[in-house]
Amino acid sequence: MRISMSLFSSLGKKIFMGASGLMLCGFIVIHLIGNLTLLNPDRDPFNKYAHFLTQQAGNAIYVAEFMLAAIFIIHFTYAIVIQIGNWRSRPLRYKKVIDQKGNSKKSLGSVTMIYTGVVVLIFLVLHLLHFKFGKVIMYTPQGYDHEIRDLYAIVYTYFSDFWNVVLYTVVMVLLGFHLSHGFWSAFQSLGLYGKRFTSFAYGLGSVFAVLMSLGFVFLPTWIFMISGGTV
Ligand code: HEM
Repeated sequence: MRISMSLFSSLGKKIFMGASGLMLCGFIVIHLIGNLTLLNPDRDPFNKYAHFLTQQAGNAIYVAEFMLAAIFIIHFTYAIVIQIGNWRSRPLRYKKVIDQKGNSKKSLGSVTMIYTGVVVLIFLVLHLLHFKFGKVIMYTPQGYDHEIRDLYAIVYTYFSDFWNVVLYTVVMVLLGFHLSHGFWSAFQSLGLYGKRFTSFAYGLGSVFAVLMSLGFVFLPTWIFMISGGTV
């Protein structure tokens, strides 16, 4: 394989960053849609959905989880490699962010990518420790003859604490900033650009970022305020 096509060439880095970033965008859309079942006052649909994913989907779930973990690791690793490269080659802190056509695309999202990314990474570790690998409460849902994990109760109990809601709100706003730049710039990295297309991707990225951020802020807020955080 030629050097220019190697994993750490600038083209390789761009392709891996762009592709992994768009795949993660796909994941958070699915995750948000799945989590919307938390709005149902009946705990069974959410718990049955989580149980299906973790226990009943067979080997497919191991493959999916392995791929998801690999995509996250690729994304974070390349982000750090690219950022270190930027710091080394451009010691000046103030730099212009421009698209391939030379238009300035500098924004709060673009200049804080590495910081918002690190916050999301720390959040993710705590998030998994808490929900995926955390406390286990079992119960028997309607129509089942065996117990399953009551993840609904765990999520509701967690968000009955005001400070946990504040923590999620802050992180989800930062995630929104990350997505507002990451979404459209992923297309650039994959070589998909052009005056009209870039404007479209830029606008779509802003809408996407706001929707994801609001959606993920809405869930904990709704659980805390409307239901009073009680299960
Ligand atoms: C209101 C916000 C959120 C809630 C209530 C929530 C809830 C949950 C719950 C309950 C699980 C455990 C699923 C299980 O074990 O079956 C989970 C897993 C996970 N969450 Fe979230 N989540 C939120 C936001 C996010 C965000 C913003 C991200 C990414 C940036 C994220 C990434 C993940 C990942 C990677 C997993 C592991 C998926 C797997 O099991 O393979 N979550 N989440």
